[in-house]
Amino acid sequence: MPLRLTILENILARLNLLPVPLFDTPLAPGIAKVLVAACELGIFDALSEQSLSLEALAEKLKCNPQGLQLLLQLLISAGYLRLRRGRYINTRMAQRWLTSASPISVAPYIIHSPDIVAIWDHLPEVVRENKQAMRMPYDEDASDPSTAAALARHYAGLAALAMALGGEVVNRVKIPAGATQLLDVGGSHAAYSALFCRKYPALHATILDIQPGIEAGKRTAQQTHLEKRMTFICGDIVCEDFSKDLSSSYDVALYFHIAHLLPPEINAAVLEKVVQTLKPGGVLVFLDQITDQTHHSKLASLMVQFMALTMTTVGGTCYPFPTVKSWLEQAGMSHVRRHRLLTPGATLITAKKR
Ligand SMILES: C[S@@+](CC[C@H](N)C(=O)[O-])C[C@H]1O[C@@H](n2cnc3c(N)ncnc32)[C@H](O)[C@@H]1O
Repeated sequence: MPLRLTILENILARLNLLPVPLFDTPLAPGIAKVLVAACELGIFDALSEQSLSLEALAEKLKCNPQGLQLLLQLLISAGYLRLRRGRYINTRMAQRWLTSASPISVAPYIIHSPDIVAIWDHLPEVVRENKQAMRMPYDEDASDPSTAAALARHYAGLAALAMALGGEVVNRVKIPAGATQLLDVGGSHAAYSALFCRKYPALHATILDIQPGIEAGKRTAQQTHLEKRMTFICGDIVCEDFSKDLSSSYDVALYFHIAHLLPPEINAAVLEKVVQTLKPGGVLVFLDQITDQTHHSKLASLMVQFMALTMTTVGGTCYPFPTVKSWLEQAGMSHVRRHRLLTPGATLITAKKR
């Protein structure tokens, strides 16, 4: 994506004189591999504080200098690094989005991305049969060490994404005056809860998720020093009726990236339970990829369409706004509003309990 065409290349592409499909493959998957390898090796962190020569960087990363140079040259051409007077340096974009020093680094999501790309290996099967081709990660046996490692990568990636992009969501949501209790349904890594708690000092968050998700959430609580303001409940939101114990207890409920995991009738049933946990006047905040909210953006369309492909492959799907609105209204919510976000492909929906 940071790849820039020269003026001449742009003109040739417009005249259909360049073999443009070759940029999508093998070039794009090649750049993806280079980026994942760079994050795994820690190149951007190594260059975060100071520029380094090839030899110094190779020694720091324990790499062969000639091998490393191949990767560094590719990172320069792809727009992630610069070479100045014999020293490598991060571009501003790499420094902001890929270094641990940045609170909005998405590097953990980049490291998780090969797990997502592997889901797309099932594309031919999905196209031929239009049905689920593999299980959701949450349905796998978490006691298996490789599954546990994949789930840890998954939750770390989602947490990074939430920390990077969630600020906008938190700023757009109006919570009831004097609100003290927030329920984060399927909140796992707890990053959205942490952002709400930081903005509203009186708020306490309850995160409801399965055990591996909760383990990730407890790590976030520790890292953000919010342990005392977060409670974790281990439960299955589909099979268990959490609304009984939590009835009318919350001012705000989050339903973030849950809808795309579940069939329509299950979403309607889970949302009904969520609404029961809200106090009258409480606010339900819904975040997901919404199929009819791409606002003529090719980038937003690609984000939503890839999410739909990914979810169809693992047994979920993405929904249009009228479907979400009808679930919320049937469950007893009013004032159902959609909010356009700067983050491409994500739509925020809010509603108030009657
Ligand atoms: C796509 S993630 C979204 C996480 C977070 N809400 C966010 O927006 O980043 C889906 C979450 O739902 C949780 N989950 C999936 N099935 C669940 C179930 N049956 N009961 C409780 N949590 C579940 C997963 O563990 C995971 O945390």
